[in-house]
Amino acid sequence: MANDKFFTFHNGVKIPDIGFGTWQIPNEEAYAAVTTALENGYTHIDTALAYQNEENVGKAIKDFTISREKIFITSKLPAQIKGYDVTLEAFEETISNLGVDYLDLYLIHAPWPWDEIGKDCTEGNIESWKAMEKLYRDGKIRAIGVSNFSEKDIQALLDNCGIVPMANQIPFYIGRDQASLLEFCKKHNIVVEAYSPLATGQILNNPDIKELAAKYEVTPAQLCIRYCLEHGTLPLPKSTNEERIIENSQLEFTISPEDVQTLDAFEDIRVK
Ligand code: A2P
Repeated sequence: MANDKFFTFHNGVKIPDIGFGTWQIPNEEAYAAVTTALENGYTHIDTALAYQNEENVGKAIKDFTISREKIFITSKLPAQIKGYDVTLEAFEETISNLGVDYLDLYLIHAPWPWDEIGKDCTEGNIESWKAMEKLYRDGKIRAIGVSNFSEKDIQALLDNCGIVPMANQIPFYIGRDQASLLEFCKKHNIVVEAYSPLATGQILNNPDIKELAAKYEVTPAQLCIRYCLEHGTLPLPKSTNEERIIENSQLEFTISPEDVQTLDAFEDIRVK
């Protein structure tokens, strides 16, 4: 299962190759969902201050009988927080919420605030990144990265900062294969994490996906998650249902290169 396979960041830190996503899992449900994930072998949990569930994510990890070093925890700096001191403060809030003394991965959640998508926040991102570099050098974070960053956003950090991001977490699913961004990240040794690998559930009833899943004798969700791995991206599926949590980590099959190509050619196939 997931916990015996890894991606390796450019600093040598290993990250389990499937993470349990917790976006849109309310704090009240996060304890049960994360406990179920841990019980079923997930060792990599992804949260964010903005998800407002860090407290119960942390509590579930703490109450589970496994040592802290065996769990990989990611959290994120809220998208609207840009600057050096405010980044250090937000980090303290996150580790206090989670009840941990270090994070495995800390990401800038987005290059711009969610209510101002596309705004140029280059200066703020550089300041935040410098604060993250300090936290990394102080040993409070094992790896640092970004999320929702374009090539241009990453290039600004490469041009102005000392540490190349170790990860970029982006939306990635069949119909949204982000080819040029993937190529750019690969060139700079940046691991790409795939959030919403099921397009938040919106592609699971697509007849072509269903047909191809049947060919491999897997579920549409498993096909979608495996597709991320075939592209060298690290999937972060999310579910609150035990059967689906288990299903999403059972990926012992491969998709043929021809079928991957077929899936790459899909346009946006989301249905609400
Ligand atoms: P649920 O929590 O009820 O399982 P994404 O990971 O792309 O954000 O997708 C999450 C959505 O997909 C959630 O609505 C989740 O619902 C649903 N989902 C997760 N895993 C599966 C699965 N194996 N089969 C069907 N739906 C799933």
